[in-house]
Amino acid sequence: MACDSVKTPKATVPGNEPERLRDKTAGKPVLRFLTCGSVDDGKSTLIARLLLDSQLVMEDHLQALELESKHAGKGAQDVDLALLMDGLQAEREQGITIDVAYRYFATKNRKFIVADTPGHEQYTRNMATGASQCDLAVVLVDARKGILVQTRRHSHIIDLLGIKHVVLAINKMDLVDYAEDVFAKILSDFERFAAHLNFESLTAMPLVAAKGDNITTRSGNMPWFNGEPLLSFLEKVDIATASDTHGFRFPVQWVNRPNLDFRGYCGSVSEGSVSVGDEIVVLPSARTTRVNSIVTYDGALERAGRGAAITLVLEDELDISRGDIIAGGKDRPSVADQVCAQLIWMGEEPLIPGRRYVINCANQTTGASVTKIKHRINVNTQDHSAAKRLHQNDIGVVNLAFDRPLAFEPYARSRTMGSFILIDRMSNATIAAGMIQFGLRRADNIHWQAIEIDKQARSALKNQKPLCLWFTGLSGSGKSTIANLLEKKLHAQGLHTYIMDGDNVRHGLNRDLGFTEADRVENIRRVAEVSKMMVDAGLIVLVSFISPFVSERQMARDLFDDDEFFEVFVDTPLEICEQRDVKGLYAKARAGKLRNFTGIDSPYESPEDPEFHLKAGTVSAEALVDEIVLALERKILSR
Ligand code: ADX
Repeated sequence: MACDSVKTPKATVPGNEPERLRDKTAGKPVLRFLTCGSVDDGKSTLIARLLLDSQLVMEDHLQALELESKHAGKGAQDVDLALLMDGLQAEREQGITIDVAYRYFATKNRKFIVADTPGHEQYTRNMATGASQCDLAVVLVDARKGILVQTRRHSHIIDLLGIKHVVLAINKMDLVDYAEDVFAKILSDFERFAAHLNFESLTAMPLVAAKGDNITTRSGNMPWFNGEPLLSFLEKVDIATASDTHGFRFPVQWVNRPNLDFRGYCGSVSEGSVSVGDEIVVLPSARTTRVNSIVTYDGALERAGRGAAITLVLEDELDISRGDIIAGGKDRPSVADQVCAQLIWMGEEPLIPGRRYVINCANQTTGASVTKIKHRINVNTQDHSAAKRLHQNDIGVVNLAFDRPLAFEPYARSRTMGSFILIDRMSNATIAAGMIQFGLRRADNIHWQAIEIDKQARSALKNQKPLCLWFTGLSGSGKSTIANLLEKKLHAQGLHTYIMDGDNVRHGLNRDLGFTEADRVENIRRVAEVSKMMVDAGLIVLVSFISPFVSERQMARDLFDDDEFFEVFVDTPLEICEQRDVKGLYAKARAGKLRNFTGIDSPYESPEDPEFHLKAGTVSAEALVDEIVLALERKILSR
């Protein structure tokens, strides 16, 4: 895989502020910013310079670096600033930064958290991780090289992530003889490019990070520059944005109920403020009430603002749980189960429409799948192109469907309520970061229709327990033969059954689908939905599909109640399936005449814990069917 060397972001999250610094900086306003640029534009040097010049570099750390610099053949007085970044071992070894590292420093007036993000193209996801928290971006440019593809790419991501304030830091000015015209040309190139991005402020400055020019004081080498040096600018910059006028938003983190007399909802105010007596609404249920009191560790408050960690006590007892959103009564977030969003795909496996992931949006968690990839965005040119998949580091616009309605706001209005992550159900890894653009109105217009005859009534009439027997295994493993025999036996016992078989369904319902990974995902999604309807109709349904992927078999299982779904793994070794080769397809696949054939050039992921594990290569179909019937009779059919 191209990005094997990429590590998941290191746990240096902004919350892990060094103890010593916390004491010195308590109470100061915070500016979060990120630095980005190409590999050797001097980011690490710049950050080290800021740390050094703001005088908060720890003495012991400096001493260690002097030693290291000596090892590297440099004099003690000539500390290599880039070495100051205590990043990953790999960074030292390869000379590149491959992770997001957060640094903390402070001046008299402000506290700073800076996200140092990698410059390599394949590390878009790390850059996005760093940027999603930031108020401002410092885009570094090497004065000798000017605006590069990477500069444009990063600027576009910054824009996508809603950062409104940009510093264009044109570095290494000493290497172009401090020439004003070089600076002016780079600035005008960038302004032209950024004209259609949504930045609210762009401030350019010429620097020599390694030597400190225009960092804390104005450089004598560039008298033509009459702007502010970087550090004083960062101390003063006003980072309020046009979209900052928000109502109260409070994602509930947990419900505190120590005894019957107290029920409080704990969390942090993500936007706006709340006062005792305010009318609030709980989403997604849309129930309203008023704030009775605001409790904190240090006592009760009349009013709490953004960032405050509080416990809300409400006037009425509503059914509120973790993941609900409490919002101001008037200016409410939207609620929908389908949205259009921008996605930055971070997974090593590509995004496949129809595959189910877990979404986490402002503490709300549920299942989600992409129903459509509308287009992929080329972050170098900003062009849109059609796409069937998104690969690692791709950015695209997609429609998403959630398992239940979620409260959200467009990302342009609220970065907390409008951003989300997608998590892989198997590995639990974060595989995408997303920004909601808008809810899909179509979802508002489709409602569940109440039906009075239900599954129980239908199955009672048939006098059986409905269930789904899901046969999975290689082509030629014997799935259809066994399912067929089993159906005959069940039928003979007077049970109502139906078989859905891959080859047959692909002649009708799924005749538009082939054998790419995406098509197989859709194949199984449709079949799982239909088999659920059949179980709802009171039938015993036997589903016989290769269904090669763990994810989709899990997705099918999740549609059913616990005692309704039985995975039957028809485990016949590939060699035997290939020897049998009833349809001659293995021979074709081996000869290269049939592509994506399961077991040959397309994977089969064996079930880990199926309800039935049939060694079909060595035991006869009849004996295996008897085994299933016996187990089913014991478990279910002997009602
Ligand atoms: S699945 O992978 O999407 O679950 P499904 O069970 O519907 O597959 O269809 C499998 C049947 O299609 C096989 O039994 C075989 O007869 C036929 N087939 C044709 N091409 C392929 C292929 N490339 N891979 C697997 N099966 C194929």
